[in-house]
Amino acid sequence: MLIIGGGPSGLLLGQLLGRTGIDNLVLERRSREYVLARIRAGVLESGTVELLREAGVGARMEREGLIHAGIYLAASNRGFRIDFEQLVGGSVMVYGQTEMTRDLYRARDEMQGPTLHGVDEVRIHDADAALPRVSFVHHGREHFVACDFVAGCDGYHGVSRNTIPEELRREFERVYPFGWLGLLSPTPPVSDELIYASHERGFALCSMRNPALSRYYLQVPLDDRVEQWSDDAFWDELRQRIPHDASERLVTGESIEKSIAPLRSLVAEPMRWGNLFLCGDAAHIVPPTGAKGLNLAVSDVYYLWQALKRHYLDGDDRGIELYSETALARVWKAERFSWSMTRLLHRFPDQSEFEQRMQQAELAYLESSAAAQASLAENYIGLPF
Ligand code: APR
Ligand code: PHB
Repeated sequence: MLIIGGGPSGLLLGQLLGRTGIDNLVLERRSREYVLARIRAGVLESGTVELLREAGVGARMEREGLIHAGIYLAASNRGFRIDFEQLVGGSVMVYGQTEMTRDLYRARDEMQGPTLHGVDEVRIHDADAALPRVSFVHHGREHFVACDFVAGCDGYHGVSRNTIPEELRREFERVYPFGWLGLLSPTPPVSDELIYASHERGFALCSMRNPALSRYYLQVPLDDRVEQWSDDAFWDELRQRIPHDASERLVTGESIEKSIAPLRSLVAEPMRWGNLFLCGDAAHIVPPTGAKGLNLAVSDVYYLWQALKRHYLDGDDRGIELYSETALARVWKAERFSWSMTRLLHRFPDQSEFEQRMQQAELAYLESSAAAQASLAENYIGLPF
């Protein structure tokens, strides 16, 4: 079994297969340090938390992760809480994707799972044949590896998705006309739970990594540059967009990371071609507003692990046959939720006054309706696998 990509989906798949006695090799283009230096989101659905425990990589998450039983939504500087526990009896875990990836690399070392870093020119040959082969260059030498299955866990910019012939592949995309300016600061979080704020000046999010490390986001025009945003300008703008009580409590400081990320929704179908299976960002991208990116990668991995387990242990290929359909069913629901949160909470440049009133009315409805809040809560903590 060959896994292309040493990010969260590739490593988690390798870990689960390894514990099931299924040998696998992970090929990663970058160094481990580079992969671990990426700043990524950090809200884990309850299903993700469960699977990390089952994979034997939950110990540090249990110790250092923060269980959140709700979030705050805010409109025009006034917030209200969505109580997951009360509405749907669930919660999420705030634990950085970087930390999860670090735990997975440690576990792979312990399991002595073979991992090659710095591979180049990865090519998948005969993915629709009984025995696909993968070629790559490592330390200046070309290698060919024959394998029974290939898992494409190589993200949006990887080779796997484009290995599926164009005439057999369909892509559905929505690019949003704004980005998120993220700032990481070694300051105490402004709130005990995340704040998603809608404001006429644009969206804002108050998140965290731990009690001494906060992560904030501002909606900015796509053509903005990080250099345009001093820390002070960031803090001033954030104060204007979040609830008044929060802006009074806000502790500011010097940022340790600042970057702008574009927002996009993308789904590639199918997620399987012959003996090639796509997982995570290799097959789909969500805007971060629903905190679904990592969790969708995890549910793909869960379905593929189950399918391969049935193949290797029971000689039953129904899971493999149904993998793409099963994974896509959950992917589209999470895409819908992420798109609806983005549409609800952001200011669109070409938005009419009527559309603004629709946003306000939807937020007012959410504030007043337990049924509406329960639907949001159910999607946010994660739909069942
Ligand atoms: N050969 C080998 N490795 C590759 C190649 C290639 N041709 N192309 C990309 N990679 C590696 C990247 O360097 C990266 O480490 O594949 C890995 C893909 O990891 P991610 O992009 O993190 O994707 P995934 O594991 O699916 O995780 C999805 O990441 O971007 C977030 O929001 C997203 O949280 C979600 C999560
Ligand atoms: C983050 O902590 O980086 C984060 C949290 C929730 C989101 C997006 C990002 O929806």
